[in-house]
Amino acid sequence: MPLPKAELHLHIEGTLEPETAFALAARNGVTLPYADTDALREAYRFTDLQSFLDLYYALMDVLRTEQDFADLADAYLARAAAQGVRHAEIFFDPQAHLKRGVELGTVVEGLWRALGRSEQNHGVSTQLILCFLRDESADSALRTLRAAEPWLDRITGVGLDSAEVGHPPAKFREVFRAAADLGLRRVAHAGEEGPPQYITEALDVLGVERIDHGLRCMEDPALVDRLVRERIPLTVCPLSNVRLHTVASLAEHPLPAMLDAGLVCTVNSDDPAYFGGYAGDNFDAVRDTLGLTEEQLRTLARNSFLAAFLEHDEERRQR
Ligand code: HPA
Ligand code: ZN
Repeated sequence: MPLPKAELHLHIEGTLEPETAFALAARNGVTLPYADTDALREAYRFTDLQSFLDLYYALMDVLRTEQDFADLADAYLARAAAQGVRHAEIFFDPQAHLKRGVELGTVVEGLWRALGRSEQNHGVSTQLILCFLRDESADSALRTLRAAEPWLDRITGVGLDSAEVGHPPAKFREVFRAAADLGLRRVAHAGEEGPPQYITEALDVLGVERIDHGLRCMEDPALVDRLVRERIPLTVCPLSNVRLHTVASLAEHPLPAMLDAGLVCTVNSDDPAYFGGYAGDNFDAVRDTLGLTEEQLRTLARNSFLAAFLEHDEERRQR
């Protein structure tokens, strides 16, 4: 029996397996610039975050209809459930779809077809977190939030993802303020490729409750002390860090040092179709390669439930 866990850092578009990409391409009459799934898998040799993002955004072209998004999410939830995930807080990137003419309603309604039945079908409770692309303008993020207003009953929070360096959190001060005013929870990717100051800025300027990745906090002892003291959860994604060369190898991953420092770490899959594994695979990898103890693995799993926005649905029902 895999350890029960919550997944808090998962981009639904990053669950597009090569076989699904080809199936959806055929369904929608899209031609992919790869001969077959093996040729596509060959392209999964990333040098950094941007080299991954280029493929990630290009392959999204196969996602066109509500049913496409429903099938994508349903396949993820089935795999996640098989690996012990009991609760999933799922990121999606509306701007990447709007830009290619796919409406927000298509994305949210499609995802909801799967999420709305997930507890019955897979035993996984779910929430949606709308991410702003930090390499797009602050104005575009604001327009996206406004466009999402009809679906806010299905959206728990907002996040910030895509190319980090050169796009500091403070650029999104206004839209995160507006999101807070709408009662949305806030998270942000920070300290993946970007400097430790971006983590501080995400906390102080955007008011985020969790930091996605956050690895580079380890370069700043005063920041580590703060994250420990304030019990700010970090959603760490070990296999992603290896594939995007954020760490030199899994054996050199700072997760053990982060746990020793007292940081509230969780283990997640980020973009499992691209990085070689789902949540349970990430747990297995850190157990096998980093030698984490059963007690440390249980701490990581417990942290995932403590860091989840689980009370959200209850609050919403009472509103
Ligand atoms: N980092 C930033 N943006 C992303 C990622 C990531 O790991 N995955 C999908 N969008
Ligand atoms: Zn991510």
